[in-house]
Amino acid sequence: MPFSTSFAPISHRTSASDPVSCTGGDGPLPVLGRDVRVPLATGGEVTYAALDYAASAPALQRVWDDVAAYAPYYGSVHRGAGHLSQLSTELFEQSRAAVAEFLGCREGDQVVFTRATTDSLNLLASVLPRGTRVFVFETEHHASLLPWRGHEVTYLDAPRTPQQAVATLESALHAAPRGPKLVCVTGASNVTGEIWPVRELARAAHRHGARLVLDAAQLAPHRPVDLRELDADWVALSGHKLYAPFGAGVLAGRADWLTGAEPYLAGGGASRRVVRRPDGGVDVEWHTGTARHEAGSPNVIGAYALAAACRALSEAGFARLAAREERLLARLRAGLAEVPQARVLSLFGADADRVGVLSFVVEGWDSSRLAAALADSYGIGVRDGLFCAHPLLRVLLGADADASGECGAPQDAPREGALDAVRVSFGAGTPDEHVDRLVTAVQALARRGERG
Ligand SMILES: Cc1ncc(COP(=O)(O)O)c(C=O)c1O
Repeated sequence: MPFSTSFAPISHRTSASDPVSCTGGDGPLPVLGRDVRVPLATGGEVTYAALDYAASAPALQRVWDDVAAYAPYYGSVHRGAGHLSQLSTELFEQSRAAVAEFLGCREGDQVVFTRATTDSLNLLASVLPRGTRVFVFETEHHASLLPWRGHEVTYLDAPRTPQQAVATLESALHAAPRGPKLVCVTGASNVTGEIWPVRELARAAHRHGARLVLDAAQLAPHRPVDLRELDADWVALSGHKLYAPFGAGVLAGRADWLTGAEPYLAGGGASRRVVRRPDGGVDVEWHTGTARHEAGSPNVIGAYALAAACRALSEAGFARLAAREERLLARLRAGLAEVPQARVLSLFGADADRVGVLSFVVEGWDSSRLAAALADSYGIGVRDGLFCAHPLLRVLLGADADASGECGAPQDAPREGALDAVRVSFGAGTPDEHVDRLVTAVQALARRGERG
C-alpha cells in the first residue's frame, strides 16, 4: 500500500545512512545505557558493566532508533480505517515477515507474536492434541519445563554429553506408547551457556514420529536459528533477550496444531464472527491464521522492535558476533581459572560449544553476597540464584534433588550455605573492559573472602 507520509519502514533504509552502523569492525554493537554511571558503595561512580544479558539485554541503539522513527506514526493494528492504523497494520505484518525470514520459516509456518518465551511455550502447551506426551530434560529453564504439566510428561535425566542427550531421548521415545509426542529443548542453557544438539535431537524426534519445539530464548541472541536448517517444528524466543525490550516474543512454526485448537486467549481479533444463538448463548467462529492466537490489541511497537533487532543482528553477522563473543568467553574462563576458589558450572565439560553465559561459585562466598559486592564495589550487574532452573542447579552443584533454594530469595538475607550461584552473561554490546573488570573483581574478592 502506498503511503504519503514521509515515514520509511526500516527495510527501506540503508545501514550506511543510520546514525549507528551495525556492520564492520570488531567492537561491540552500540546499545542503550552504555554510558550510564552508577554509584559505588566505596565512593565515586563508574560506568555500569551490564553482565546480565541472559536475563534482559539492553536495547540495540539501532532498535531504539527504528522505534523512535516509527513512534509518531503509531496507530491501532487490524482495527482502524485511518491512515496511521493502516500504516501500523502494514508494519506489524512486515515485522512478522521479517521475523519469519530471520527464523528460516517454511512455507505454511506461522509466526505468532506473544509476550515472551514463557508465553509462547504456554501457548503451544494449550494447543497440544489430546493425548500428547511431552519429553523434556530436567535441565530446562522453568519456562520450558513447566507449561506441559497438564499433559503426560516424561522428564529426562540430565545428560553429561550432547551425544548422551540424543541417546537418552532416543530410548525414551522408543519406549513411548503410540500417539502424538512433543520434545521441548533449550538451544543454549541459561545457566551454563552450553549449546544443545538441537538438529540431532530434532532428527531423533522425527524418527520416532515426535515433534520438537526449540526454546531459543538464549540461543537466538548469539547464533542463527533457522527452523529449516535445524529441522525444528517450532521455536520460541523473547524480544527482551534479543535487544528489543518492548514486550514482544514469538512462537513460530507449524500451523496445524495451532489452527486445530481453541484460541489461547478468547477475545476480539481472534474471532471472525460472533452471533447470539436462538437459545440465548453465543456462537463464535474463530480465525484460522495467526490472528487466532493473538486476541486483543497487538503489541505493534514490540513486534516492530523485534523485527528491527532481527535485521540489525543479521546485518551485523552472527559469524562476527559469535567470534567476538568466543574471544570474550575465553578471556573470562582464563581469568576465572586463575581463581583457585572459583568453580565454573558445566554439564558438557570445558570443550563444549557455548554462548556468552557462564555460572560459577566461589568457595568462601555466598553467591548473593558476591553478586552484591560486584555491584557495590565494582559497578557490575550480574545475577545470582538458581536462574529459574532449579533441578539443573541441583545437578550442577551436586545437591540433593530436594535441597533448599528458591527463586527470588531476598539478597539481604542470604542463608548460610544457600544453594545458588553467580551468573555472568554478555553479548553483542559488551565491551572487553566489562569482562576484564569482572575477572579482576572476582580475583580480588576471592582473595579477600566474604568475611574479609
Ligand atoms: C532458556 C530460557 N527459556 C525461557 C526463558 C523465559 O523467557 P521470558 O522470561 O522472556 O519468558 C528464559 C528466561 O530467562 C530462558 O533463559
